[in-house]
Amino acid sequence: MIKKTSLITGISGQDGSYLAEFLLSKNYEVHGLIRRSATDNLKNIEGIKDKVYLHYGDLENEHHLCSLVYKLQPAEIYNLASQSDVRVSFDAPEYTGNITGLGVTRILEAVRNFSSKSKVYQASSSEMFGNAPAPQNENTPMAPRSPYGAAKLYGYNMCKVYREAYGLFICNGIGFNHESPRRGENFVTKKVVKGLLDAKRGRIKKLHLGNLEAKRDWGFAGDYVRAMHLMLQQDKPDDYVIGTGEAHSVKDLLQIASKYIGISWKDYVEIDKSLFRPTEVNHLLADSRKARERLGWKPEVSFKDLVKMMVDYELNEK
Ligand code: NAP
Ligand code: GDD
Repeated sequence: MIKKTSLITGISGQDGSYLAEFLLSKNYEVHGLIRRSATDNLKNIEGIKDKVYLHYGDLENEHHLCSLVYKLQPAEIYNLASQSDVRVSFDAPEYTGNITGLGVTRILEAVRNFSSKSKVYQASSSEMFGNAPAPQNENTPMAPRSPYGAAKLYGYNMCKVYREAYGLFICNGIGFNHESPRRGENFVTKKVVKGLLDAKRGRIKKLHLGNLEAKRDWGFAGDYVRAMHLMLQQDKPDDYVIGTGEAHSVKDLLQIASKYIGISWKDYVEIDKSLFRPTEVNHLLADSRKARERLGWKPEVSFKDLVKMMVDYELNEK
């Protein structure tokens, strides 16, 4: 059987690595865009490096994206690359706009001009909702509160424009927070799990955190990549909210993780005002009925099991 060709931007990231494994299991030929790095940024794809085709490039470079898309003519393109850290986007707003926002347009232009049959998945974000009342779904008005959220909203809207103007097959997945042992170290789930274990082992005296009241709808990244793939298998392109339908505060996260680890988080956590964001998103909670009904998707890993999975991974890390 002829293999379907896929291209994943951000293949070295958390989601990119799970998606690559998933597509390989479905017998796809998997290509990934990676950035040249002086240090190791390929840890997440260590196990599959020999099974995928890696191409150096950057979402900043339109010419290169066009020639790659032209050469591969991928059946499916998953645009997962971005400056994905909300806190960092306040320090680097222009860079975030360029990669997380304009990067989407560069992919869309490459598809429009050189591979119009490619189906495109865009990794949009629940951060676009800002403080819209929970739960949020596809019809909830969007009002971002960070440069990251604003850049994602631009990309999201460009996908809708290109879908309608040029009849391209483009889907926005509006992803709520999803985590895993491969999560970047600055995101709060990984920071809490690693920090509490380091505290227990006596490696650190204090764990510095920001706003403990914020609530997020945290799911397992491995579940979310199935939704991305399902969107591109439908007859018509559309946008879908992807989340668990359960929200927890950062305090709940601390409670569950510290109970499993066997310490009291209150002995170690220190609030650091500098870790608060200039504007916060308070409560994200997904209403993902559309994805459940139309795609037949549902998450399989509960929040408690996700935290346990992340703790167990750190315990087994050398
Ligand atoms: P991640 O772990 O931060 O991965 C981001 C990926 O993008 C990395 O492979 C990174 O490469 C790559 N990248 C960054 N800048 C690039 C550039 N200029 N050119 C090419 N590649 C670049 O993010 P993730 O958690 O897997 O998320 C995947 C996507 O979903 C992102 O677009 C994110 O914004 C979005 N999203 C994530 C969540 C979530 O909760 N995880 C929720 C909603 C939406 P390096 O390894 O070289 O840095
Ligand atoms: N990172 C971080 N570090 N967050 C903290 C800390 C801390 O020390 N202390 C409290 N928080 C709070 C943040 O203020 C935020 O309300 C919440 O923990 C979650 O922060 P992150 O884990 O950094 O994730 P995020 O919600 O800002 O963004 C993630 O989810 C988005 C989808 O809603 C990222 O994956 C984005 O790329 C994604 O789009």
